[in-house]
Amino acid sequence: MDEERLISPELEDIQEERIENTLRPKTLEEYIGQDKVKENMKIYIEAAKKRGEPLDHVLLYGPPGLGKTTLANIISNEMNSNIKITSGPAIEKPGDLAALLTNLSEFDVLFIDEIHRLNKSVEEILYPALEDYTLDIMIGKGPSARSIRLDLPKFTLIGATTRAGALATPLRDRFGIVHHLELYQTKDLTTIVKRSAKILEVEIDDESAEEIARRSRGTPRIANRLLKRVRDYAAVLGDGNITLKIAKTALNRLEIDEMGLDDIDRKILETMIIKYNGRPISIETVATTIGEDSETVEDMYEPYLIQIGFLARTARGRIAMPAAYSHIGVTYEG
Ligand code: ADE
Repeated sequence: MDEERLISPELEDIQEERIENTLRPKTLEEYIGQDKVKENMKIYIEAAKKRGEPLDHVLLYGPPGLGKTTLANIISNEMNSNIKITSGPAIEKPGDLAALLTNLSEFDVLFIDEIHRLNKSVEEILYPALEDYTLDIMIGKGPSARSIRLDLPKFTLIGATTRAGALATPLRDRFGIVHHLELYQTKDLTTIVKRSAKILEVEIDDESAEEIARRSRGTPRIANRLLKRVRDYAAVLGDGNITLKIAKTALNRLEIDEMGLDDIDRKILETMIIKYNGRPISIETVATTIGEDSETVEDMYEPYLIQIGFLARTARGRIAMPAAYSHIGVTYEG
């Protein structure tokens, strides 16, 4: 019994990931939204291919769930190259990065997620690798130690981060292409929900797709997750087809409100408006009060609350906006 409980969440994760992969677009043509990024990338990719050169290094930043990994896969696909995927915290030592780099083939894409979490010693051997495809490694220790220089295949680094500001300037400057991914508009998310429903072979009407989209906080990953949960409700409570009534019932039961806010969003707003009486407060204070870490609040919750006009950053701290007051049922008194 214990073992089953230990194993099942992992199995669930694997299944979720498998479904997420089947929903991922494979080409720029299939990729919905982020038009500016898409148009620019199309040009850069075509130009690199025409010149027979690798694509310049790419930095993608923006809130989680917007498709940074998806885009990296698409870029390597469009370049007809292979992709190796890793993350900042997974590369612990310079030797780990050296192993990754020396195993690349010409024009391969190396994708480093959470690149802001690379440690300093790793970052330093990355610089010459990015700049002139060389790797300086130290052999031996003490007075007899010497450095040798290896040539690397011409590769493309794609770095992803939720916080471009956390990246060391010398690292940021080595990316020739830098794009910010923005939260999606409801219209694009609706198209994504309809596309995913088709792949999952579930019937959904336009208004239900829009309902799911509106409550997905501008994030495709959330939209796809909600679609899967709504599909479960449709299978059990209805005939398998997603109707507006079923979509609303399911979303309400998941405690996602009309604006797409969940329990934690509401706690954030209540902390600011009720507990601190609307005074400007720091993100750390918000996070500590609700028992989350400040990075999570800043990366995962704040961008959407800012986008919908519920929260603002000011020089004196974060403040809740009038729309947030009425949303949680408190009168705004300026
Ligand atoms: N699934 C997740 N993100 C997507 C996107 N941007 N376009 C199409 N399908 C998606």
